[in-house]
Amino acid sequence: MAVSYEFNISTRIVYGRESAAQIGEIAGGLNLKKIQLVTDKGVANSGTLDYLLEPLKNAGINPIIYDEVEYNPTVQTVDKAAEQFRNENCDGVIAVGGGSPIDAGKCIGVLATNPGSAHDYLGVDKVKNAAVPVICVPTTAGTAAEITDVAVLNDPGKKLKMGMRSPQVAATVALLDPRLTITLPPEPTRDSGLDALTHAIESYISVNSWRLTDTLNLQAIELIGRYLRTAVHNGNDIEARDAMLTASLLAGMGFHHTKLCLVHAITLPFGGIYNVPHGASNAIVLPHAMKFMLPGAVSKYVDIAVALGEEVSGISDREAAEKAVEAVEQLYRDVDLPSGLSLYGVKEEDLPEISQTIAENFMVPLSPRIAKADDILAICKEAL
Ligand SMILES: [Fe+2]
Repeated sequence: MAVSYEFNISTRIVYGRESAAQIGEIAGGLNLKKIQLVTDKGVANSGTLDYLLEPLKNAGINPIIYDEVEYNPTVQTVDKAAEQFRNENCDGVIAVGGGSPIDAGKCIGVLATNPGSAHDYLGVDKVKNAAVPVICVPTTAGTAAEITDVAVLNDPGKKLKMGMRSPQVAATVALLDPRLTITLPPEPTRDSGLDALTHAIESYISVNSWRLTDTLNLQAIELIGRYLRTAVHNGNDIEARDAMLTASLLAGMGFHHTKLCLVHAITLPFGGIYNVPHGASNAIVLPHAMKFMLPGAVSKYVDIAVALGEEVSGISDREAAEKAVEAVEQLYRDVDLPSGLSLYGVKEEDLPEISQTIAENFMVPLSPRIAKADDILAICKEAL
């Protein structure tokens, strides 16, 4: 367990229902003249960019658009975008979208000032030079990639999904406007919202947690329990969208400091090997991993149950802790989460080898109950 704690978010956070209108001002304040706007086809075709292009135009900025970021972005995609950045003599990046375009945008910012391929900087503290200014504008509520100092990329040739973790990876500004999440369809709303729930729960029970991160994470859990159903089934409800974007941000501020634990350790290879959507795989594994970790964090599970609206008076702490898992499972039924990883192509015969790899992940020992490879295999089989 950590004996001293630090809290530092280097990214400036601008939040509000009209805040996208400030993008020109923010870019101008950073002295940016030629910007590469990084996004995906879905966002580019959704009309969401209008919230940004108009104020940028008013500020005299006409960005170069790179909209080829795919789900689970690859090293090759980032390298290609960085080449465009250099050829066009851009001086800053605006990344718009879910975790994929935002992670890609953060990496492009790094490659603008550091030679070579994104592959060279995967790992911890490999980036040497400060990145160019990067402004992240999320259109989903879940990853919190806009404030973290890590970006996850796929390297399909090596069947690898790996993080670029370094202080230089963190964005300069996170611009969060809940209006930009309104057009997100129910399925990604659900998956990203459950990713945020996983962040909040994992950070809350992490051995690195402390009262400051606990405050952020409990508030995030409560907001998700109260608003995710509405955001999924009635996406136009701006109050629900606003609450979910706040929840994602709060959980991100929590796990940026505590890191995550068993669930994200388990699901990382599923993204790399089978391209399973990040949020859905975390959500599917979460209750199974929670059951395993429960004996190591009973009182924290009681808090989670209460935050999710469960009645716990008159029952033992052990029973109340189980209600945390039940509340998560009830939420899943209400938002129609698919039940197993096999739906996404995960194969049982691959699990023993994958479990061995997972057991070595640095996040496993951050869990309140440490899983060995056999425990991980059992959890993966239950989640299948
Ligand atoms: Fe996540």
